[in-house]
Amino acid sequence: MAPSVQALVLVGGKGTRLRPLTLSAPKPMLPTAGQPFLTHLLARIREAGITDVVLGTSFKAEVFEEYYGDGSSLGLNLTYVTEDQPLGTGGGIRNVYDSLTADTILVFNGDVLGGTDIRDVVTTHSESGAEVTLHLVKVSDPRAFGCVPTDASGRVTAFLEKTQDPPTNQINAGTYVFDRRVIGEIPVGRPVSVEREVFPSLLAQGRHIHAHVDNAYWRDMGTPEDFVRGSADLVRGIAPSPIIAQRCGEALVLDDADVAANAVLIGGTVVGRGATVGSGARLDGAVVFDGAMVEAGAVVERSIVGFGARVGAGALVRDTVIGDRASIGARCELLRGARVWPEIQIPDGGVRFSTDV
Ligand code: GDD
Ligand code: MG
Repeated sequence: MAPSVQALVLVGGKGTRLRPLTLSAPKPMLPTAGQPFLTHLLARIREAGITDVVLGTSFKAEVFEEYYGDGSSLGLNLTYVTEDQPLGTGGGIRNVYDSLTADTILVFNGDVLGGTDIRDVVTTHSESGAEVTLHLVKVSDPRAFGCVPTDASGRVTAFLEKTQDPPTNQINAGTYVFDRRVIGEIPVGRPVSVEREVFPSLLAQGRHIHAHVDNAYWRDMGTPEDFVRGSADLVRGIAPSPIIAQRCGEALVLDDADVAANAVLIGGTVVGRGATVGSGARLDGAVVFDGAMVEAGAVVERSIVGFGARVGAGALVRDTVIGDRASIGARCELLRGARVWPEIQIPDGGVRFSTDV
């Protein structure tokens, strides 16, 4: 018997805003609170009672199947459909059409950390009789998202992707419910944006797209700032995840990490497997990937330290991304959006913002 609801997770993006971390790993596979980000989303899908999940892959497609296999360890039946050339969000949805058997298809952007009850979105869809339902949330600055006004009945009236002049603070949260036949109408053989082409064209035809609006936890993990905050929110129990049994407190220290007794770990910091934190170091909202080293007296705030990277003694790293196996010399200062490329070695005191010698 065909399942009543199937899920598709779009994971084919290049994750450019998270470079250089996404040079080696696709964005959904970056570790957050000890698991690839995607595992939190897949666990939420499973928790909603959905077991048939397709991953729509493109960039670094092989990584997903190597890690998740048939999905049985998560209680899922996972299949993979790969675009040889990225087809965009709409093209990615159309590309899996032949793998879909259910009449109702839940589509997820693969980089959203959320607490919405997925079943409620499906219920809104079936009750309204719409052909497509969009999950919407309210944010303070809608300009980086798809802005989605609705009428008093909850019907979507427009879809304005990344507009500088948003008419509402209600945005596309990146979860959609589609009647399967609508997916079959998406053009084939070329890149298509679901946000810029499919939704506006359906609305122009007068088709019924409905909104499911709520105020559950929501964050797009696509930028370093959001990645760091989302990770910290998972650790502190602010963002829900079925695979984190309870809030970990101010920090999560994973297996085989070695943290000096007088190091300070706060703000939802994660110290990865086999990582080391030296004496007197202070980590506040830091995401330290597996095998990285933060040496004595270093300060790491709201930053990501890539796999096997090193932060030298007394260094200050704030709002920065450090690529895999890069080495930041002692007493360096890296601030405000700095990105250090993988393998780069910065000598002791080599980058400073202050003028002290
Ligand atoms: N398969 C496939 N192929 N997936 C893709 C492709 C592609 O060519 N391009 C992007 N994706 C996936 C990404 O991996 C990501 O999971 C999802 O589609 C959305 O792409 P992003 O690049 O993260 O888009 P965004 O964050 O700028 O904007 C989107 O998400 C916002 C909410 O988080 C839009 O849907 C906005 O309207 C929305 O508000
Ligand atoms: Mg995104």
